Amino acid sequence: MSWTIRRMIVGDVDLVLKIAEEIPEAPHWNHKAYESFIESEIDTGLQRVGFVAESQERLLGFSIGKLVAGVCELESIAVLSSERGRGIGRALLHAFMQWANIHQAVRLELEVRASNSGAIRLYGFFELRREGLRKNYYSSPKEDAVLMGTALPVSGKLT
Ligand SMILES: CC(C)(COP(=O)(O)OP(=O)(O)OC[C@H]1O[C@@H](n2cnc3c(N)ncnc32)[C@H](O)[C@@H]1OP(=O)(O)O)[C@@H](O)C(=O)NCCC(=O)NCCS
Repeated sequence: MSWTIRRMIVGDVDLVLKIAEEIPEAPHWNHKAYESFIESEIDTGLQRVGFVAESQERLLGFSIGKLVAGVCELESIAVLSSERGRGIGRALLHAFMQWANIHQAVRLELEVRASNSGAIRLYGFFELRREGLRKNYYSSPKEDAVLMGTALPVSGKLT
């Protein structure tokens, strides 16, 4: 089944919430929080963005991040468990990094649960490196956060 990546719009929020509900590692923001960041981008030019992976009008995954003072933060990336291992996560991260490049970001940073080896491998593919540890950062269950980052652009991986 083929899929495409496009920008997240307000009309996607219900489906994004459904995906997030299924995935414990995804942020559990409410409808208003998702909506307000999409709208704030339109209204105020705040540099925040979401991408969705879509197949025949069904959402398969999403990525969300922001840009502050030249530093991009990937806030979340998630793919439905039934759709993993097909390159969708890679494509969602790629789209976010392209956006970061277009907006002249100089760094990309993120936090990830120390036990999330799948996501850490995905980030390594895009030259994100471990830069620190935040002890007991996550709750339920309590766990350290690995801080990862890279200088941008990583043009070699984005061509
Ligand atoms: C992390 C996640 C987004 C990856 O999505 P995906 O569509 O399966 O990723 P891809 O198919 O593009 O995989 C890209 C690479 O990532 C690595 N990878 C991804 N998931 C992996 C896993 N579970 N185990 C090992 N490696 C994994 C592999 O190196 C893979 O490359 P390969 O296929 O050449 O081996 C997905 O597993 C997910 O939604 N996890 C739950 C949410 C989450 O943990 N998000 C990150 C923190 S917010």
